[in-house]
Amino acid sequence: MYNILIMYYYKIYTYGCQMNVHESEKLAGMLKQLNYEETLDDNKADVIVFNTCCIRENAEQHAIGNIGALKPLKKKKKDLIIAVGGCMTQQNGKAEYLKNTFPFVDVIFGTSNLNMFKEYLQKRLKTGKKVVEVIDGNYTIDETVKPYRTSYPNAWVNIMYGCNNFCSYCIVPYVRGREISREPAVILNEVKELVKSGYKEITLLGQNVDSYGKTAHFDYDFADLLTDICKIDGKFRLRFMSNHPKDITKKVVDAISKNDKTCKCIHLPLQSASTKILGLMNRKYTFEDYYDKVKMLKTAVPNCAITTDIMVGFPNETEEDFLDTYNATNDIKFDGAFTFVYSRRNGTKAFDMDGQIDDATKKDRIMRLVELQNAINAQKSTEYVGKTVEVLCEDYDEKRGLYLGRDEFSKMIYFSSEKSLIGEFVMVKITKAGGMSLYGEIGE
Ligand code: 5AD
Ligand code: SF4
Repeated sequence: MYNILIMYYYKIYTYGCQMNVHESEKLAGMLKQLNYEETLDDNKADVIVFNTCCIRENAEQHAIGNIGALKPLKKKKKDLIIAVGGCMTQQNGKAEYLKNTFPFVDVIFGTSNLNMFKEYLQKRLKTGKKVVEVIDGNYTIDETVKPYRTSYPNAWVNIMYGCNNFCSYCIVPYVRGREISREPAVILNEVKELVKSGYKEITLLGQNVDSYGKTAHFDYDFADLLTDICKIDGKFRLRFMSNHPKDITKKVVDAISKNDKTCKCIHLPLQSASTKILGLMNRKYTFEDYYDKVKMLKTAVPNCAITTDIMVGFPNETEEDFLDTYNATNDIKFDGAFTFVYSRRNGTKAFDMDGQIDDATKKDRIMRLVELQNAINAQKSTEYVGKTVEVLCEDYDEKRGLYLGRDEFSKMIYFSSEKSLIGEFVMVKITKAGGMSLYGEIGE
């Protein structure tokens, strides 16, 4: 008698932000419970999941293109299950559009009911019928869903879901619902377990971490959470994203400054340095307010690195408004900036605004801004040469034949080593700078 072991495989396509990367780990956790193994090969997969993003049009188009490309495979392999979830499906009318445009898709689900994916997949397998379940509303917390983590020694931990801010360009509050915070004890326990099992860097995730606890039944805020996580024994780094310039408090800044485990590195999205544009964006701060927060940070945490998000081409942005942003970028000298061209999202306030900017002007502005930030990055990298920094080794780069990791300020550093150092803290002397990356040698 032979025991024939049939293996089933899944593949997950992830688009968009860190939040989605972690949600894909939760989808993988559910697939693992059903005994699926991961594959990177579409042809070998029995289940292919698209975890989509709709924050900008290009992210959406990317996913749509990839879903469409699977049609021939599905035709050849009738048993293949294709599932589409994530932010894109939550938009008004999008689930219907996906159902009609891609009739070969088997399961369509949203962000609010992501934790139900396992049940939807089982239903599809049992009945052979298409499952389309997108529910309007807030994220349903289900602490029984355990992520299958794929990014050792880094671990992502949600502290909250949703967003209450309604920045006028942003689709997130419409597709992810209102803010809900996880219970402090549950978060503390998750971090404790992660540290115990060897994770060395914990990143707390929320659309606006500074409003953690604000709409909850408990009287406990983000600064309290940072302070309590830092009391957990063991050597690990604590990161968090994103902070909001209107909400970050002195109490949070003090918690960062006082605790050794918190990385002195803050992501504080500016978006624009024109107060007129910030008003139209409904960001609820002026450029002066933003600058005051930067000064508060730099005073309380002298070496603090500040990274940011900047957007160009928002409706009614004049050359003068753009120059405000350009000059502020040159003045503040961010330690990193994600730069975006404004993308018109159906359903948001800005979608219907007069004064939309033409593509050529947007392109010209983004190119000038990127060039400036590249020069700032290069200058900052050069200043690293000769320094010795503590690096958490995260991976091995096959192409370069080098290990890589980041320092406290999230600077990527490559170095060589005879043995694997993944998951270890090592002192690295920086010998060379190249763009955003640095190269160094292990040593004191
Ligand atoms: N167009 C361009 N960029 C956007 N972002 C959010 N919505 C849009 C949009 N409609 C950017 C913001 C935000 C980051 C996560 O994505 O800069 O901080
Ligand atoms: Fe979008 Fe603004 Fe919420 Fe960030 S804070 S997710 S930009 S609405």
